Amino acid sequence: MTVQPSTTHPLPPDLNAERMPHHVAVIMDGNGRWAEQRGLPRLMGHRQGVAALKSTVYCCSSWGIPALTVYGFSAENWGRPRTEVDFLMELINHALGRELDEMISRGVCLRVVGDLNGLPSRLQTNIEEAMAKTRQNQGVLLTLALNYGGRQEITEACRHIATQVQQGHLAPEDINDELFGRHVFTPSVGDPDLLIRTSGEMRISNFLLWQLAYSEIYVTPTLWPDFDQMEFHRALCDYQQRHRRFGKL
Ligand code: FPP
Repeated sequence: MTVQPSTTHPLPPDLNAERMPHHVAVIMDGNGRWAEQRGLPRLMGHRQGVAALKSTVYCCSSWGIPALTVYGFSAENWGRPRTEVDFLMELINHALGRELDEMISRGVCLRVVGDLNGLPSRLQTNIEEAMAKTRQNQGVLLTLALNYGGRQEITEACRHIATQVQQGHLAPEDINDELFGRHVFTPSVGDPDLLIRTSGEMRISNFLLWQLAYSEIYVTPTLWPDFDQMEFHRALCDYQQRHRRFGKL
């Protein structure tokens, strides 16, 4: 996968093209607070969150970041009030339809991971269509985690592997990190180099538990709807100062 930096929105001069992360993961938190701070219904924060996501995807495109994975709806988010859940499902559905042509023209390849069977059937159909229409695209790989939980992903991987052992296709000794990594939802993209969490919470919240083992974590107090190009730039500058050791000296 190669994403060339754009000539129209070039990389800011204080970022080093050689040290850009290949894969950025984001926990987009703080939509509700953003709206409440403005005396608006929480749902308006989610709507503004879609705009922040769009700007982040196209920053990745412009700055040569090949993969972005975002937490759109967790398996635990079903516990929110029904009106909020319904709004989020409709918002995502609507955004997929509205943004599809632009994603195609900008070469974005969309992948959705999580327990998709648990989503409303109209959303499932639109997800299938959007994934099919963007599958061949060579630009940013945008992975959207919906009805997703890291523990659920790991237990599902265990179930697949156990079935293969039971059927005699695998021996228990064949199971190692590398094999396990092929059974989680993001096998082709590599682990995130950088995890960004907005709104100041210091938690992983059941996101990409397997894949985040050695990711650099950047937490900003900025609420997700305010996370713009400047904020992303700041996160990337911080990332480029890190010395990644992967447990070595
Ligand atoms: C967390 O903020 C955010 C979410 C649960 C939803 C994230 C979804 C979006 C940004 C829209 C996604 C759109 C697409 C197309 C995937 P919160 O509501 O928990 O905020 P709070 O902590 O301030 O209450």
